[in-house]
Amino acid sequence: MKILVTGGAGYIGSHTCVELLNEGHEVTIVDNLCNSNMEAVNRIEEITGKEVAFYKVDIRDREKMGQIFNENDVDAVIHFAGLKAVGESCEIPLEYYINNISGTLVMLDIMKEHGVKKIVFSSSATVYGCPETVPVKEDFPLSVTNPYGRTKLMLEEILQDVYKSDNEWNVILLRYFNPIGAHQSGRIGEDPNGIPNNLLPYITKVAIGELPQLNVFGDDYPTEDGTCIRDYIHVVDLARGHVKAIENMKNGGVEIYNLGTGKGYSVLEVIKNFEEASGKKVPYKIADRRQGDVAVIYGDPSKAKKELGWEAQYGIKEMCRDSWNWQKNNPNGYKK
Ligand code: NAD
Ligand code: WQD
Repeated sequence: MKILVTGGAGYIGSHTCVELLNEGHEVTIVDNLCNSNMEAVNRIEEITGKEVAFYKVDIRDREKMGQIFNENDVDAVIHFAGLKAVGESCEIPLEYYINNISGTLVMLDIMKEHGVKKIVFSSSATVYGCPETVPVKEDFPLSVTNPYGRTKLMLEEILQDVYKSDNEWNVILLRYFNPIGAHQSGRIGEDPNGIPNNLLPYITKVAIGELPQLNVFGDDYPTEDGTCIRDYIHVVDLARGHVKAIENMKNGGVEIYNLGTGKGYSVLEVIKNFEEASGKKVPYKIADRRQGDVAVIYGDPSKAKKELGWEAQYGIKEMCRDSWNWQKNNPNGYKK
């Protein structure tokens, strides 16, 4: 298939492009590089030995998006492009609504104009809010607490409305848990700007000596060791989930899948696994809780297994090993 990947130069997008190309699909990337680097696109080509068409375009640019659809015979879209930092979304909510919502609306409108009605959308476990029980299933109640999460929930609803108005649309909403790790080659990985917000990039920067120590946000949660529990998933497994989603699209419908491992690890367990996998010490101190964190969340990924034939292959050790391998080989990320 010919797949248009928005945000394909980003962390999850770049890994997904590699898996799509490995499976014989053709890939066109649209990315404005606001949170990524052209070097990621070069490395996708290097890893796969295949070419991708790349457009440095903002998905809100109607005219250029229209040209891209004119120039490329697109079968389906995988839509990653968007802003993703929870804390930042509380400081600059309008930028998040304008980028994530308006961008998606422009893109859906252009898709409609060109008769392209297949889309896989990057949603997030954040839409489950603070779940009453775990593991969370796709039909659990939804709630959000910040503008970033609200964009994901609104877009899920918008996509469902689009399908309701025209049953030829194929919409797959993938709710990711906590993606970590990197491609085994060590050539592509997560490259956050500035001080990382997320746990694994922070840990790798401590391990390489760029940051002095990790702050563990709270050790008084109702969990065995008092730190929060999350469902970490290897980004390559996540990427393969997208390939399965694209290849299993039915003739019209909306489907929602959790993409996680179904297992939860505490912050202290992640640190321990990282230290074992990397042979590096990760100094940490216990800090205050971070506002908005839920104590425990992990997903039930059985629907994806049953319907898509997808299941995570990698465990926490491989996730930590590959995060470290990427960091160690690219101490400055994609920057020279
Ligand atoms: P990322 O920032 O690495 O990738 C997003 C890409 O989109 C970047 O390359 C950025 O330059 C591009 N982009 C942003 N706005 C754009 C626009 N208007 N036009 C064109 N390109 C634009 O983030 P990621 O971690 O790869 O996340 C990909 C998607 O998955 C996002 O939608 C994110 O919200 C979602 N998601 C991420 C996580 C996570 O923890 N990483 C979890 C759940 C969901
Ligand atoms: C994981 C755990 C922190 C940093 C976020 C988004 C979510 C989704 C995935 C996009 C938590 C603890 C972290 C640090 C720490 N993204 N931590 N010290 O918050 O589970 O999920 O990314 O959709 O929407 O909210 O991920 O990596 O930030 O935190 O102790 O310096 O690590 O408290 O328990 P989170 P995270």
